[in-house]
Amino acid sequence: MADYLPTAPYRGTRDFLPAEMSVRTQVFQRLYDVIERYGYLRYDGPVLEPVEIYEAKSSREIVEQQLYTLTDRGERRLALRPEMTPSVARIIAGNAGKLPFPVRWYSHPNCHRYERPQRGRVREHWQINVDVFGSDSPSCETEIFELIHDMMAGLTASPDMWVLRVSDRVLLNAILTTMVEVPADQTREVSALIDRWEKYPQDTLAQEAAELGMTEKQFHRLGEILSAGDALLDDLPGEAREQSVLMRVLDSSARHLVTFDPLIVRGFDYYTSTVFEVFDTSPENRRSLFGGGRYSNLVGLFCAAQIPGIGFGMGDVTLMDFLGTHGLLPAPRSEVDVAVIPVDETLAQAARQVAHDLRQTGLRTSTPLEYRKLGKELARANKSGARVAVIVGRDEWAVGAVTIRNMVTGDQQQTPTDAAPSVVTTMLG
Ligand code: HAM
Repeated sequence: MADYLPTAPYRGTRDFLPAEMSVRTQVFQRLYDVIERYGYLRYDGPVLEPVEIYEAKSSREIVEQQLYTLTDRGERRLALRPEMTPSVARIIAGNAGKLPFPVRWYSHPNCHRYERPQRGRVREHWQINVDVFGSDSPSCETEIFELIHDMMAGLTASPDMWVLRVSDRVLLNAILTTMVEVPADQTREVSALIDRWEKYPQDTLAQEAAELGMTEKQFHRLGEILSAGDALLDDLPGEAREQSVLMRVLDSSARHLVTFDPLIVRGFDYYTSTVFEVFDTSPENRRSLFGGGRYSNLVGLFCAAQIPGIGFGMGDVTLMDFLGTHGLLPAPRSEVDVAVIPVDETLAQAARQVAHDLRQTGLRTSTPLEYRKLGKELARANKSGARVAVIVGRDEWAVGAVTIRNMVTGDQQQTPTDAAPSVVTTMLG
């Protein structure tokens, strides 16, 4: 037997056949529409980046375990982008002189991470990124949270299907130092432990806490605090409340948009204060749909200007799992609206001409590439989802007419050829 190359895509990457692509395109288009209604402009960048932009300030897990790296023929160390935030920070810094800050930008890159493929995790995913640059105002947080609500409202029937959980690293540091008596130089390690809180059993966490030098009493207190939710905020030191941008949002009429949850930490080094994630409320999908936060010093890696950023990434895998679980995926679009079918081979050019006129009016129209009998072509048209067929017959064509068939009812009518576009358009409603 011949030894063929494998047809399966590389592990953790996906091929998208047209039907799936149609579903995805419809979902993404709805999201782009909402994002653009807020005035965000789309940008893009290269999939290959210098590896240093991740090593400088990203996530330890990404840099040490998940980066796809390569060395080019000029000995430059490159990586396939695992996320967009370092790239967009680089682009903003490189163009800072000509940008009218604050700027609102969005993109939809594919990102690569060497992960163990599992539900919600693959090696190449698409991530809608939405970010604001150049403002410290809590209005940024409020706008981003409202935008997330509108994005989700465009896809779901009920706000109970998902939850936007937020925290603030400034508040968390204050909670850890004042309420759990964690030394200031250890808050980062303890925060990393909290980041794993929902993923590991308590015994493992207790052991890790002990290794960090925490007493059993401190670990117990940490557990109490992490489950206290909103109530925690009342006991916070005034100084931390004043420094926190998120606190100003929580103290405003926008509070109903979010759920304060100190368990939200996020694994990236660049976040400086607000952090948030969106989760499905169904236990079937445990991984976040969105992740984001405020990063005040990332652009500063590339230029002298201080340009804060805030935004999020929304992943396609978790989004499609979410929509599938809740029965919210749209149906794939039909291939075409109209099929133009010649009854014999000599009418192929006539059919192409009719099809051309239909396309001019915006109708998605096909004609056969190879001649087959009318019955076969009608069956094919039906399968393609065409709701109308225009049949080009010899005698009719000779007198300047075609037959228009409603594929749903089977009704047929003869029409002058030049009236076909308007008759078909009316029939399609
Ligand atoms: P992230 O939390 O790593 O954040 O990713 C954002 C979203 O991308 C996740 O919530 C998830 O939906 C999706 N995602 C991430 N990794 C994978 C994977 N291996 N497979 C499938 N989906 C995945 C960031 O990347 C930040 N740069 C987002 C950001 C933008 N922060 C500020 N602006």
